[in-house]
Amino acid sequence: MNESANFSNIHKFYDLVNSLTTLGFDKSWRRQAAENLSPGSILDLGSGTGASYSDLKNFNVTALDPDEKMLSLNKFDKKIVGKSEELPFEENSFDNVLCCFVWRNVSDTEKALDEVYRVLRQGGKFVLLDMTRPAKNILKLFHKIGTFALLHFIGLITLNLSEYRFLYKSLDFYPQPEVHLKQKEYSNLDIKRMGLFGFVYLAVFTK
Ligand SMILES: C[S@@+](CC[C@H](N)C(=O)[O-])C[C@H]1O[C@@H](n2cnc3c(N)ncnc32)[C@H](O)[C@@H]1O
Repeated sequence: MNESANFSNIHKFYDLVNSLTTLGFDKSWRRQAAENLSPGSILDLGSGTGASYSDLKNFNVTALDPDEKMLSLNKFDKKIVGKSEELPFEENSFDNVLCCFVWRNVSDTEKALDEVYRVLRQGGKFVLLDMTRPAKNILKLFHKIGTFALLHFIGLITLNLSEYRFLYKSLDFYPQPEVHLKQKEYSNLDIKRMGLFGFVYLAVFTK
């Protein structure tokens, strides 16, 4: 996957558009993801504007993102510019890694999974939340039509067609999470579908 979205172009209205496109459900999905975290330290991977801030206030959080403009709106104290394929941390640094709505933007997910494994402590959790396509073909078709219309419309009215077109296309970059996320190194993997037609998934891995 060689394309990527330029989040710098949409950082000012990212949160608003995210809430509109998910009818506000993004907050409850992030909350459910945070409920799976163990006590201790957290790497918020692809933290962006820090949309998980209210769920993570009582944790020791390090926010990492490659986009400095997204990070400039982020309220976490510890902020680091970096990407998931090359994490600038020692082995066994975190009790948890949280990653919300980022995975489709990661160009080398195998490398990123290895990197997350490396920086997690033994028994640590990798909590991954993202959007995909519904599993059933007929629902997938409805979802494709709906997301095509909605994301292209938002792209046109915000004058950022290429970014929202990327977000539409990225829903098809990877196979379904039940296939794509099989990872030998992690000791177990639990995947839960959420949202309309099950187009959102929450995956929890343990090191
Ligand atoms: C859709 S936003 C999600 C932000 C936030 N986690 C949330 O829940 O709203 C995706 C973020 O992933 C970041 N990103 C893109 N490629 C990345 C990579 N390879 N590693 C880590 N973050 C990445 C982008 O800069 C952007 O801030």
